[in-house]
Amino acid sequence: MSSPSPHFPQRAFSGVQPTGNLHLGNYLGAITRFVELQKTHECIYCVVDMHAITVPQDPDELTASIREVTAAFIAAGIDAEKHIVFNQSQVSEHAELAWVFNCVARLGWLNRMTQFKEKAGKDRENASVGLYAYPTLMAADILVYRATHVPVGEDQKQHLELSRDIAQKFNNDFGDSIRGHGFADGQFFPLPEPMITGPATRVMSLRDGTKKMSKSDPSDYSRINLTDDADTIAQKIRKAKTDPEPLPREEKGLEARPEADNLVGIYAALSDKTKADVLREYGGGQFSTFKNALVELCVTKLAPIASEMKRLVADPGHVDAILIDGADRARAIAAETMKKTKDIVGFVHKH
Ligand code: AMP
Ligand code: TRP
Repeated sequence: MSSPSPHFPQRAFSGVQPTGNLHLGNYLGAITRFVELQKTHECIYCVVDMHAITVPQDPDELTASIREVTAAFIAAGIDAEKHIVFNQSQVSEHAELAWVFNCVARLGWLNRMTQFKEKAGKDRENASVGLYAYPTLMAADILVYRATHVPVGEDQKQHLELSRDIAQKFNNDFGDSIRGHGFADGQFFPLPEPMITGPATRVMSLRDGTKKMSKSDPSDYSRINLTDDADTIAQKIRKAKTDPEPLPREEKGLEARPEADNLVGIYAALSDKTKADVLREYGGGQFSTFKNALVELCVTKLAPIASEMKRLVADPGHVDAILIDGADRARAIAAETMKKTKDIVGFVHKH
């Protein structure tokens, strides 16, 4: 993969939708990565409320979810003072740049998006225009900060590729204007790099190892929510689907055993080990022994986050203040990009 042009600072951006329950997949695939990146990058983490309304939302629940995701970020160890945490709708430049990108992206590109096909289902005529245009807003989220790195779970790979295509097409279409406005290499937007790393980039449902763990699964037993208490976590893991074989001693033995693979992956990610390490310890043993260890590990890791989230959401004024402060700092960066974008596109505006 090509590295970003040198004039772009190493900046990370990612977003999480405030819809329903945050679960272990969000935590391991995204939030723990966000925490890690704070050491090496300037980070901007966004609660993407405008993406949430691409499907119907109850307004009161949406408000509560925005605060809950924010609380999860902070409880997991994101430093909202050193870095930026805010909700998308407070920075109108996201929507402004998304419009420009709607005019850069091609229908054919959006028609290939598998997430739209999945979410729209059979009744595609009845899906919102926003659900269809979702990926151009996502590209705007990233590129309005000219972010270079995007930590996400595996399911967002295709959207990230589209963001790169949009950045590249914008740079090509407006190349002369970009150079005319002082960017000698003609690269106004970086091509953002997806960072899909770690042993749990795709955490699967506890009821079916071939399905992604998801906020929208009707069975609560399919996922571990960040707000679940110890008893609930224990029950869900004990009931998690497995097969009758003991755990293998080597990773190769996990092939074609999706449920076993998933639970080992979760253990590895939570304990910062590799799957091979985990199998060296538990391979050959019964599932029940391993499940007991997994319960203990999950509870130890998640209980402090759940209690800190509870404490934070009990004080919505404090959470809102974090989001307002983050939005002010985000807007300062976004407004600069938007002004330059207007110059490049040829819009008249106040300098
Ligand atoms: P969403 O809840 O769809 O806004 O997702 C927020 C982040 O969590 C994105 O980076 C997703 O890729 C990631 N994510 C969601 N579900 C999973 C999963 N089952 N396994 C790993 N990462 C996930
Ligand atoms: N589409 C992402 C998801 O469903 C959320 C998202 C919106 C995002 N904008 C983003 C992720 C920008 C990374 C960067 O999970």
